[in-house]
Amino acid sequence: MGLDWYNAIAARHGGYLRTWDSEFDGPDGEAAFTDWLRRTIRSHPRVLDVGCGDGLYTLVMSSLAEYITGVDYAENMIRLAERHRREAAVANADFICTGGRVEVYPFPDRGFDLIYSRRGPTSHLTDARRMLRPGGLVAGIHSGERERVLERLTVNGYEILTNDEYAGTEHLKTELDLARWLSRTPGAPDFTTPEMADELERAAGTYGHSDKGITVPHWRFIWVARWNG
Ligand SMILES: C[S@@+](CC[C@H](N)C(=O)[O-])C[C@H]1O[C@@H](n2cnc3c(N)ncnc32)[C@H](O)[C@@H]1O
Repeated sequence: MGLDWYNAIAARHGGYLRTWDSEFDGPDGEAAFTDWLRRTIRSHPRVLDVGCGDGLYTLVMSSLAEYITGVDYAENMIRLAERHRREAAVANADFICTGGRVEVYPFPDRGFDLIYSRRGPTSHLTDARRMLRPGGLVAGIHSGERERVLERLTVNGYEILTNDEYAGTEHLKTELDLARWLSRTPGAPDFTTPEMADELERAAGTYGHSDKGITVPHWRFIWVARWNG
């Protein structure tokens, strides 16, 4: 996904609004990552969230951090994140537009205890070594690119601590929920309109069905590594 795509998603949805109803079965990687982060921030209180998007997740984590900074290369996302921060009156967080081809991030040496990326980039792993205190952690959750992440961690000299897969299933309750889910990305047609009824029918046929609804497979990869300095 490129920069234009992420700017468009911020403009179209006002961030990552979840408009569909669903239930989850099996190992839930997103929940496992959030639990781990909640536990870890307590002992790693200066935090950087790379690819923070609309900032809502960063702001949730701010309640546990001493200070948390979110970065994203999409200006629209940072504008939204900053608006969310003001609305929630959070004082120990800030949002900065940076990333992309940046080789040296605008942060001091050894300024962070923990740098994470939730479905964001991993290109920061080279400079993260400089920004982390010795013994600091990098972590992430992704829906692909496992080999690339592991290679980046190894090439940059991190000690890999966690490399776990989670395979679960989301059950979208109704066809309307499927329509909303299919329409979530900018550029995708609005599947909730009557003109898209046939397309929706066809799409529904490509997914599995259970007594809980229309099933969508989810695969997540959680990784954690230490920079020993
Ligand atoms: C799938 S979204 C996840 C957003 C947020 N972490 C969350 O969990 O809601 C990925 C985000 O990473 C940002 N991003 C992608 N590549 C980036 C890069 N190289 N540098 C900075 N931000 C990047 C995108 O703009 C987008 O907001």
